[in-house]
Amino acid sequence: MSGSTLVTNIGELVTNDPSLGDGPLGLRRHAAVVIDNGRVAWIGDARTAPAADTVLDADGRAALPGFVDSHAHLVFAGDRAAEFGARMAGEAYTGGGIRTTVAATRAAGDDELRANVARLRGEALRQGTTTIEIKSGYGLSVADEARSLRIAREFTDETTFLGAHVVPAGRDPDDYVAEVCGEMLGACTPYAKWVDVFCERGAFDGEQSRAVLEAGRAAGLGLRVHANQLDEGPGVRLAVELGAASADHCTHLSDSDVAALAGGDTVATLLPGAEFSTRSPYPDARRLLDAGATVALATDCNPGSSYTSSMPFCVALAVREMRMTPAEALWAATVGGARALRRDDVGVLRVGARADLLLLDAPSYLHLAYRPGVPLVSTVLLNGVPL
Ligand code: NIG
Ligand code: FE
Repeated sequence: MSGSTLVTNIGELVTNDPSLGDGPLGLRRHAAVVIDNGRVAWIGDARTAPAADTVLDADGRAALPGFVDSHAHLVFAGDRAAEFGARMAGEAYTGGGIRTTVAATRAAGDDELRANVARLRGEALRQGTTTIEIKSGYGLSVADEARSLRIAREFTDETTFLGAHVVPAGRDPDDYVAEVCGEMLGACTPYAKWVDVFCERGAFDGEQSRAVLEAGRAAGLGLRVHANQLDEGPGVRLAVELGAASADHCTHLSDSDVAALAGGDTVATLLPGAEFSTRSPYPDARRLLDAGATVALATDCNPGSSYTSSMPFCVALAVREMRMTPAEALWAATVGGARALRRDDVGVLRVGARADLLLLDAPSYLHLAYRPGVPLVSTVLLNGVPL
C-alpha cells in the first residue's frame, strides 16, 4: 500500500516497549500509530497525532502487535481425527502417529501440500498471527523433506528443517541420523533458516540429537529443539548448552533444567495446545517465570498433537491452565515468540518495527483470555497492509 496510515482512537495500545508506556506491555491509553512503508513511523497520543494519507478509526478498541507463532508444522496431508477420538476415549499419545502423517504427506502432490499450508496460514492470519515459523518433518526422505521446506519457504522466511522428527518406518536409526546430518541437510539447507530435532524417548536420544544440531549449525542454521515433551530427558540441557534459540514444549522439567533455562539465552517455548489435545498435564509456566526464564507461547499446529492455529486459544489456555497472568501470556505470544526466533522487528510496536498490528473487538487485551473462543481479532495489518 502506498502512502501513510494513521490508526487512531486506540482505547488501549500494547506496544511491548516499556519505554513507551506502563509495565512490561508498555500500555498506553487514547493512542495512535502512524504507519509508513510497512513500518511504524510514529506512536503517541491520539490528540496530537500527525496527519496521514489514510485514517483507520479504532473507535476505542484495543490494538496490539501481531502474534508471533514460533512453532508450527503446517506441511502435511491428511488428518488424524480418529487418533484424537481414541485419545479422548483414553488412549495415550506417543508420537507414533507421526508415521501415519508421513505416509499421507509422501503420497500427496505439491499442490495439495501447498493448498494445505495456505489454508492453515490463512486461518492463523485471520486470528492475528503475523509471523509464523513452519517446520518440515513429515517427509523424512531427502526429496520429501526438501520439498516440504521449498513449499514452506513460499509462506515464511522462518523455516525449520525437522528431518529428525522420528526414524521413518523400516530405517536403521543410526543410518537415518547419518543421512539427516549429510545428504538431507545438504538438500534442505537452501530453504531452511533453522534445524530442529525431536529429542525424546521413541524419537532421538541425546547423542543423536547433538549430532543433528551440530551438523545443522555447521551448515549455518540456527538451533531449536523439541525438548522434554513426554518425559524429562536431555533435550532442554542440550538446547541450552548449544545455545539454541528455543527449547520447545518444556513440559517435564527437573530443577536443573529450569535453572539452565533461567541462566542461558534459550527461550522456553510452551505449547499448551499439545497438552490440551493429548489430555496431558500442562507445563509449569509459573516455575519458569519465577526462576527468570524467558517464556514464549506457540501453537505447535500439527495434525497429531495440536491441531489448532489459534494463538488467542493458546493465550486463554496459558492464563486459565498454566497460571500465567493475561499480561504474561500476551507478552509470551508476541515478543516472547519474537525472542524465540531471535527477531527484534516483530512482536513490538515502536518506531522502526514492522507494522504488524491487530485491532480487537474489545476494549482491552484482557478480553483475549476473558472471552475464550470468541473471534475478537477484527482487523489485521500485515506490514502495514490490512488483510
Ligand atoms: O510437537 N513432538 C513432536 N512433534 C509434534 C507432534 C507431531 C505429531 O504428532 O504429528 C509435536 O507435538
Ligand atoms: Fe512440534
